[in-house]
Amino acid sequence: MTSAHLSQVKDIYNHYIKHTHINFETNPYNDDYMLEWFEQFDHSGRYHAYVAVENEQVFGFALSQKFRPKPAYSTSIEVTFYLTEAAAGKGLGKKLGHHLLGNLKHQDINRAYAAIALPNAASVGLHKSLGFIEAALLSQVGRKFDKFYDVAYLEYQFS
Ligand SMILES: CC(C)(COP(=O)(O)OP(=O)(O)OC[C@H]1O[C@@H](n2cnc3c(N)ncnc32)[C@H](O)[C@@H]1OP(=O)(O)O)[C@@H](O)C(=O)NCCC(=O)NCCS
Repeated sequence: MTSAHLSQVKDIYNHYIKHTHINFETNPYNDDYMLEWFEQFDHSGRYHAYVAVENEQVFGFALSQKFRPKPAYSTSIEVTFYLTEAAAGKGLGKKLGHHLLGNLKHQDINRAYAAIALPNAASVGLHKSLGFIEAALLSQVGRKFDKFYDVAYLEYQFS
């Protein structure tokens, strides 16, 4: 991902923010936010951002981000995958997942987590097919559109 992709990445995020429970953000992202957000990624470290692009159109993205701020958590990361609705269900998520995990395996990372607001069969299916296992279930941990949602944490064990 480069800064040239941020506008399309924002549009993909905002679709799910505005219309679904999948992302617990309630306000759409704007361009200033995206620029600041992009500063967290450093491909020589633990935090990576990749896009799936064809003819300059972004069809999806894969991220590794800080799991929690306190330093002892730094060997854990949180991963995130988003595709356009049209690109979903055709194997692209799995391709991005293998690419992301492959590029992270030489880093000093012990666990990757995915936080999945339920229901989300595609995300659970993707992570399980990448080798993630169930780690925790937080019941009714978030409320969006006046409804409570559970979040499943799935973990990937690098070693
Ligand atoms: C979640 C997402 C990234 C998955 O990527 P995808 O390209 O749709 O998934 P793939 O086609 O690569 O499928 C990967 C695996 O999940 C399974 N899967 C995909 N969609 C599924 C569905 N709707 N129900 C059940 N399993 C599903 C596939 O069968 C495959 O398993 P297999 O390898 O054992 O055959 C994509 O659907 C998406 O962007 N959804 C909306 C945003 C989102 O939910 N992001 C995750 C936030 S936690």
